Amino acid sequence: MAEREATWRPMQWTGDALILLDQTALPREERYLECRTAEEVAAAIREMRIRGAPAIGIAAVAGLALALRGSASTGGDWRQAFEAAARLLVSTRPTAVDLFHGLERARERIVGATDPEEAAQVLSEFVKELLERQWAIDQAIAEHGAGLLPRGARVLTHCNTGALGTGAYGTALGIVRRAYELGHLDHVWVTETRPRLQGARLTTWELRRLGIPHTLIVDGAATWLMSRGEIQAVVVGADRVAVNGDVANKIGTLALAVAADRFRVPFYVAAPLSTFDPNVSEGSAIPIEERDSAEVLRLGEAWIASAETPVWNPAFDVTPGWLITALVTEYGVVPSPDRPKIAALLAASGARR
Ligand code: MRU
Repeated sequence: MAEREATWRPMQWTGDALILLDQTALPREERYLECRTAEEVAAAIREMRIRGAPAIGIAAVAGLALALRGSASTGGDWRQAFEAAARLLVSTRPTAVDLFHGLERARERIVGATDPEEAAQVLSEFVKELLERQWAIDQAIAEHGAGLLPRGARVLTHCNTGALGTGAYGTALGIVRRAYELGHLDHVWVTETRPRLQGARLTTWELRRLGIPHTLIVDGAATWLMSRGEIQAVVVGADRVAVNGDVANKIGTLALAVAADRFRVPFYVAAPLSTFDPNVSEGSAIPIEERDSAEVLRLGEAWIASAETPVWNPAFDVTPGWLITALVTEYGVVPSPDRPKIAALLAASGARR
């Protein structure tokens, strides 16, 4: 499997700064952003300079480490500083559960710390560990998922689930990468992914660098392509998986799942265990982020509708588990996900962690 040959890094941790490839500048410019405080990390997540559920989970832990470093140099109650930073970071994007898991696990890690220097060091090591571990997780997902695709597959993917979305190899796009390396993949159809255009701006950028043949389509073209038999599988990521198998993912995912069901195209969702929420019983309980109307009313700097136009801009939707052919996790494939299968997966993964 291809290793980390890339000349670019979505996210680097130096111990006192988080360096992010600014995803709002892509594909025009490869611009790096240096975050030295929790506030800067929170702003980068909110503004989607870093995005994708696993990537923001790791960035949030880095934000906490930076808050502790700051507290070590300014003095004051460092545990309070930690909690204030956690509240700020958790308020940035409500749907991706990786963010909440990252913060909880960071809190557990520093329970025994006696001063902010020690706590900051513990979290600094934890960020390194998370970045390292994400590679192994992504590569396991890629391996499991690539095995599901038929030879010569033409697959469709939505949003961006590549290295930019995880900080490592990618989840759904990792499956695409691996299938291509194995010679199983013929072509990737990439949806534009309105309104933030993660497919058009980011996924095509990654695929071009990887040399994987692809074609960009507007979101509305996907059903037509499926009806013509041009797609052998849809592969997407997730922001939160409920324990009954319902999945929140980028807005437009549900439409793809319905079309895939109607035209008998397998619909796969790739998600690491960090994206599963054992506290959410079903999809309707997943909080769905609603973003600014300007994202819909404007394309870049250009207004495409009157600023007075009422807008509804949910960033995610929920696909019921019964529309999903299989979930692909680092622990293996869960076909036709349901409550008992996910309970078994969580129990088995908990036992192995
Ligand atoms: O709003 P975004 O760009 O953060 O949404 C990203 C997605 O919906 C991805 O599918 C998901 O986070 C998985 S990224 C590996």
